[in-house]
Amino acid sequence: VKGGFASFMDKEIHDQPKAVADTLLGRTDPRGALVLDELRIPEATLRSIDKIIVIACGTAAYSGHVAKYAIEHWCRIPVEVELAHEFRYRDPIVGPRTLVVAISQSGETMDTLMAVRHAREQGASVLAICNTHGSTIPRESDAVLYTHAGPEVAVASTKAFLAQVAACYLLGLYLAQLRGTKFPDELREILEDLHALPDKIQRVLDDEEAVRHVAQKMADEESFLFLGRHVGYPVALEGALKLKEIAYIHAEGFAAGELKHGPIALVDEGQPVFVIVPSPRGRDQLHAKVVSNIQEVRARGARTLVIAEDGDEAVVPYADVVFRVPQTPSLLAPLVAVVPLQIFACALATAKGLDVDQPRNLAKSVTVE
Ligand code: F6R
Repeated sequence: VKGGFASFMDKEIHDQPKAVADTLLGRTDPRGALVLDELRIPEATLRSIDKIIVIACGTAAYSGHVAKYAIEHWCRIPVEVELAHEFRYRDPIVGPRTLVVAISQSGETMDTLMAVRHAREQGASVLAICNTHGSTIPRESDAVLYTHAGPEVAVASTKAFLAQVAACYLLGLYLAQLRGTKFPDELREILEDLHALPDKIQRVLDDEEAVRHVAQKMADEESFLFLGRHVGYPVALEGALKLKEIAYIHAEGFAAGELKHGPIALVDEGQPVFVIVPSPRGRDQLHAKVVSNIQEVRARGARTLVIAEDGDEAVVPYADVVFRVPQTPSLLAPLVAVVPLQIFACALATAKGLDVDQPRNLAKSVTVE
């Protein structure tokens, strides 16, 4: 069942090119326009929404966090991302022009389900992004966009996360198409970039030995920090969560710009810090800003583990280790950037002799509030 891998988590990490390809499959017509057949919310409703609220928990919420950057950029619709258990117990502003997107691998997470019910009671349309056919959350939603990651067995989510992010991109591109916020040729170009991702993820997996090797040597570390900006920020949060969950190591993700507002005080001699570096080909200042963040932590003694694009030489002088990922347009980069972090956590936990598939105190689906 594990297909020759030491754990389900390891296998599921390697399933990711297929999980993303399958999630993208069959969602375009012969002219290259997106068709989301399952999306049974009337087009008129989708045209009139003035706000999207993503509700989810844990890793699924981080996929929503990536979605926010992409959907706001492509569709110019404000997107809020909220942990489902927080959403429900405040007094959220939700109405008929709100689209609530509930993301859940299992479709059974009680916190998310209760938030779905609450949103529908307030008159919102609810779209579920879910990996499990016939589960409760899609059944109680107005529409569902299934991720096709296949069953995920390991408690720590990996391939479901990538499939959730891919599904969010499809939703964003579909809304941009419907609302005319992007030209058809721009949309086609982004879709082509998206379809190139499974091969790029495979290339990251082909280089996994380098990541494993470093992870195995760091099994005795007590704490890791993860820094990222823009879509690299949710990737940092997800990298930290994986390490906490399966390796039981204290790990925290930060928005890199937040460093000087407090967290940099944590950095002292030898502190390992992962930094997710955006593409140097982006049109903004992000790359330069993140490179200077690496310098800042390095100057205070940090050991820097840098995730950077192929060909990005600017990071080399400040990196103790560089893990390379293929060149990818900024908004889509989480699909490659998170993979070394998953491999790292899995290899480190395995080196500690832990059961990576069944971490202590956790269940695969959390069906209690
Ligand atoms: C982390 C993890 C959890 C889940 C969360 C939501 O690796 O697996 O954080 O992502 O409990 O679960 P679903 O997606 O089933 O609603």
